[in-house]
Amino acid sequence: MDCAMDRAARTPIREPPAVEEDAWFKNVVDGVERTLDTCLPVAETGDTRLLEAMRYATLGGGKRIRPLLCHAAGVACGAPKDALDAVSAALEMIHAGSLVHDDLPAMDNDILRRGKPTVHVKYDEATAILVGDTLQAQAFLTLSESPLPAERRTAVIRELAAAIGPFGVAGGQFIDLQNVGRSMTLERLEQMHLMKTGALIRASLRMGALCILPEDEDDASTYSILAEYGHAIGLAFQIGDDILDVTRSSAALGKTAGKDAARNKPTYVSTLGLDASRTLVRHLRHRAIAALRPLGINGCQLRLIACRIANLAAA
Ligand code: IPE
Ligand code: IPE
Ligand code: MG
Ligand code: MG
Ligand code: MG
Repeated sequence: MDCAMDRAARTPIREPPAVEEDAWFKNVVDGVERTLDTCLPVAETGDTRLLEAMRYATLGGGKRIRPLLCHAAGVACGAPKDALDAVSAALEMIHAGSLVHDDLPAMDNDILRRGKPTVHVKYDEATAILVGDTLQAQAFLTLSESPLPAERRTAVIRELAAAIGPFGVAGGQFIDLQNVGRSMTLERLEQMHLMKTGALIRASLRMGALCILPEDEDDASTYSILAEYGHAIGLAFQIGDDILDVTRSSAALGKTAGKDAARNKPTYVSTLGLDASRTLVRHLRHRAIAALRPLGINGCQLRLIACRIANLAAA
């Protein structure tokens, strides 16, 4: 990375007053929590263990970054809040399910998630596999019942399905597991991060916009802004996660720290080093924020989220 780029990446970003910012974030997080509680099934009688485990994996934890991104993009485009709540709940179900699977013994074999024992530890491995499956099913059910015109509903369903398949989350996770104990080129590492984590982040943004805007020529510029922002912020988010794995404690993270090195996983930190990884996150934050310029004030929440994501990794 050249010096001018690095200097630009170090320039402080001025943020609007923290009170308004916190109120907006809290409102979205509270809304998604309520919607998840409503959309996750409950059973009055019979064997409730699977349903309990779905709730255990999903409710009361996590930063809710994907709902925040979905709402921020939706707000920028004028999407209705009730639809954004439903779409955000579906995104969190998918994300929570991907974490349950990511923690399985056959994958990262982790015992701590969001400050609690992982689902396969608290329940058992078979239940954890089924929780991932049923959260996926429930996410699509939630989207199919979302308060959107039929055409918009189909668009968000298609977007989510594409993001989690072989060219998105699942494909990225496959590359991740194939490369344990190996070194990766930066190019391949970037591709892996953009798939395993970036794909759902980009989909969160696009699904917020798809609640209201058809993806046709009239709105092409909005989607290209979101694509540029989403690429930068999706990559920054997983590089940040790689950084936090080496810089924070398990207590601070709510998940096992130092896991990547212990499992000999190729990450940005193992490939580029800590300082260069941090510089890259700052650069990506600037790239994301620069992309938002044409949105003006409508991009305000997206800008705040970019700062938050970059700040997570900076400490
Ligand atoms: C963790 O995601 C896994 C990655 C994709 C990096 P988050 O950092 O969003 O996890 P929660 O939802 O806050 O627990
Ligand atoms: C997970 O990446 C990405 C997912 C798609 C779930 P990591 O394996 O680095 O996530 P953590 O560190 O366990 O949360
Ligand atoms: Mg993993
Ligand atoms: Mg993991
Ligand atoms: Mg990680």
